[in-house]
Amino acid sequence: LFFISMSISKAQTNYTESEVPFFEVPNPLTTFKGETISTNTAWEKSRRPELHAFFRENVYGRVPENLKIDSYNILEQDHNALNGKAKRTQVELTFTKNNKELSFTILLYLPKHVKNTAVFLGYNFYGNHTITEDESVIISTAWTDNNKEFGIENNTLTAASRGKRTNRWAIDKIIDAGYGLATIYYGEVDPDKNDFSDGIHHLLYGENQNQPKPDEWGSIAAWAWGLSKAMDYFETNPEIEATKVIAFGHSRLGKAALWAGANDQRFAGVISNNSGCGGAAMSKRKYGETLAVINQRFPHWFCTNFKQYNNNEEALVVDQHQLLALIAPRPLYVASAEEDRWADPRGEFLSAKYASSVYELYGKKGIGDMEMPSTNLPIHNTVAYHIRTGKHDVTDYDWEQYIKWANIHLR
Ligand code: GCU
Repeated sequence: LFFISMSISKAQTNYTESEVPFFEVPNPLTTFKGETISTNTAWEKSRRPELHAFFRENVYGRVPENLKIDSYNILEQDHNALNGKAKRTQVELTFTKNNKELSFTILLYLPKHVKNTAVFLGYNFYGNHTITEDESVIISTAWTDNNKEFGIENNTLTAASRGKRTNRWAIDKIIDAGYGLATIYYGEVDPDKNDFSDGIHHLLYGENQNQPKPDEWGSIAAWAWGLSKAMDYFETNPEIEATKVIAFGHSRLGKAALWAGANDQRFAGVISNNSGCGGAAMSKRKYGETLAVINQRFPHWFCTNFKQYNNNEEALVVDQHQLLALIAPRPLYVASAEEDRWADPRGEFLSAKYASSVYELYGKKGIGDMEMPSTNLPIHNTVAYHIRTGKHDVTDYDWEQYIKWANIHLR
């Protein structure tokens, strides 16, 4: 059944640029009432709040209550990790509410030769133990999707998948460049399935509630929330420079990183790696994945209110470039991959371009050109962009660019 529905939706997918519909790009600098915004003060006072509220109530869903960390617990620590060049910490954050509890574990590597370290923070898809060969990384007991390639059966992670995703995490390059790396298994914050009886959501239900209200958080907002809670912990850790934490994410987790950066201005910057539909890509282009398709396949990702835009993108008064604009004036990196047409590389580029007018209000350099740069020719302005060769993935090339750009804009 899955394959049948997939092939139907893929068959209708538009991959032809000339078939992208004409639409007016919602102007980040014109309020819903039609007023023009010409200063960063006016942006912050009126336009930013109304855009943020729109995305909160109609796209990702609002967080019902801001839970604080109940306790954190250092599960494990090693001052000589990664052949002696890093300090490894595994810290578990616990949240309690209504007699229910949720915990998730941050795996943190900090370079030993640097004090007050800037950190890249990002979720992983299959457990912290997949991102490195490091035998000491604890294997999560949270639910996971089955995956033959990783030897995952019965929705349970095992040592069979240790190190299986090292290719996506250039740990050595990151540590050698003087940055820390923090990662969390996203399934510990909210399992990625259409089931709202678990994860963080169910801690915050009112009486007789068993799923979020139409304007309340889906899974992407829950994952974004988890990144902010990691930030709460970083603020207590003197080894981390909490004003220099960059939220990073690939694909669905890139959507979560963008929303985290929009919500939480403590993040110093955001990296969207191939985030696509509902992330950096513009919905109104209907190129590659569309709102109807994403909301059908992943009904739990966005809030219920967002479904009114399925096959109805015209009715949206915003588009995703305005999500990106909410991150201004902080550094923002949007990255695409040539073969990742499903994520609409051009739509990701245009989003970064159209968000740039807000950066310019702050005297920051965005994307000037309407033309996409050539493949593997990155633009490293405050708003950065590259399209690399290859498929939907995170590669060493991507990390090399993120590090170079962070060196310019974070140091
Ligand atoms: C699917 C989904 C995308 C998502 C991707 C991923 O392809 O359609 O929206 O970005 O999964 O998370 O890898």
